[in-house]
Amino acid sequence: MFILAAAGSAVGLGNIWKFPYITGENGGGAFVLMYLVCILAIGIPIMMAEIMLGRRGRKSPINTMRDLAAADGLNPAWGLLGWMGVLAGVLILSYYSVIAGWALAYVFRAGAGLFNGLDAKGVGDLFGGLVGSPEKLLAWHSIFMFMTMLVVAQGVKNGLEKAVRWLMPMLFVLMLVMVGYAMNTGAFDKGLDFLFSMRFGEVFHACETIDGTQICEFSWQPLLIAMGHAFFTLSLGMGAIMVYGSYMPKRASIAAASIWIAIADTSVALLAGMAIFPIVFANGLEPGSGPGLIFQTLPLAFGHMPYGQLFGTLFFVLLVFAAWTSAISLIEPAVAWLVENRGYSRLRASVVSGVIVWLVGIGTVFSFNLWSGDQYKLFGKTFFDLLDFLTANIMLPLGGVLIAIFAGWLMSRAASEDELKLAHPALYVTWRFLVRFITPLAVFIVMLNALGVF
Ligand code: TRP
Repeated sequence: MFILAAAGSAVGLGNIWKFPYITGENGGGAFVLMYLVCILAIGIPIMMAEIMLGRRGRKSPINTMRDLAAADGLNPAWGLLGWMGVLAGVLILSYYSVIAGWALAYVFRAGAGLFNGLDAKGVGDLFGGLVGSPEKLLAWHSIFMFMTMLVVAQGVKNGLEKAVRWLMPMLFVLMLVMVGYAMNTGAFDKGLDFLFSMRFGEVFHACETIDGTQICEFSWQPLLIAMGHAFFTLSLGMGAIMVYGSYMPKRASIAAASIWIAIADTSVALLAGMAIFPIVFANGLEPGSGPGLIFQTLPLAFGHMPYGQLFGTLFFVLLVFAAWTSAISLIEPAVAWLVENRGYSRLRASVVSGVIVWLVGIGTVFSFNLWSGDQYKLFGKTFFDLLDFLTANIMLPLGGVLIAIFAGWLMSRAASEDELKLAHPALYVTWRFLVRFITPLAVFIVMLNALGVF
């Protein structure tokens, strides 16, 4: 049950919406390889550390970090790590909800048969008609936030477990159907080639459009984006997995759970890539077209495949569900803290945090229409781009490293050895080496490089 709930948090828009579009923007195969290496060498060890801290603390992340620090005679300022997590969760959910709103809108477009027979231009117009309208985006964002707070108000464990039990397998099967369709587009080889062939020369570029001309130069940014996405897609670095860890029974294996979650999460992302890029190339679309990528490709498939109307509706329903189970975990650290420390009822805590997230989300709503012009950009990025960059590429890796440092350097060896109970001493030594040395060094080198410090 723990694995299912944590997989429900991990598998979401990050896998089906974000992974394909950032892979498209960053040149394909070499980027995918960097992402996979980050999952293995950074994501899995930090996930083990984060679950472990949650299970020892058994409270909301802020209080867990404070208690664990106090128990080891450390500075109570470790509670700040919990605070940063709460802030990251609020900021991420604010734009996550807007994108989930797109998926919600597409449930009805698919259901109404609006994709039937559309060509690439028709699909692009349909998408433009949605994101160009602040009113529509605001309405869908509001509905999704309302749905999320409704579940959060009832407590995390109820309902969620039942939903995830059938959701995950169905989503998986539907992704296979989509890949099956992609095989018949005539560009399956080209899609796979884009996704899996290494062209390192093409990856390390950062392009910016200034006054209508595109300027590209060498940059480590794609590596930072790949690493940031490893944190984002596994829900690491802000306390979400810590919350689930606090519900995990003592006898369950943390390592096995982490590996299964990573496998499930990565397979969904790779299947999404295998479904989407063949459609991109078969229709002469642009792989680097940005956050709209899946909304401008998958409807083409649904518009032409047998039973496309049914599959399309089902697909977007499942995508909304997957986003829903992730959204709950993004807001839970904030809600849990309000309940524990402020004595709020769950309902009141949900309403208060939900309203704050909803307000911040309006900035993302406008990023695609009213504020999409250059005069509203900072460093060439919209409000949404900035928020995404700051959270996924800075706050989550920073939070993850602090978790790794806490688990690897400050917790006693006996304590972590006892929690992890790894089958073989060599496995424990490997884990400890990774969280003590590799993850902190890797994260700092990548971050400082990408930010141009070196
Ligand atoms: N992992 C989710 C996804 O891929 C998003 C998510 C849920 C998340 N909880 C999180 C990201 C906590 C970072 C931190 O869609």
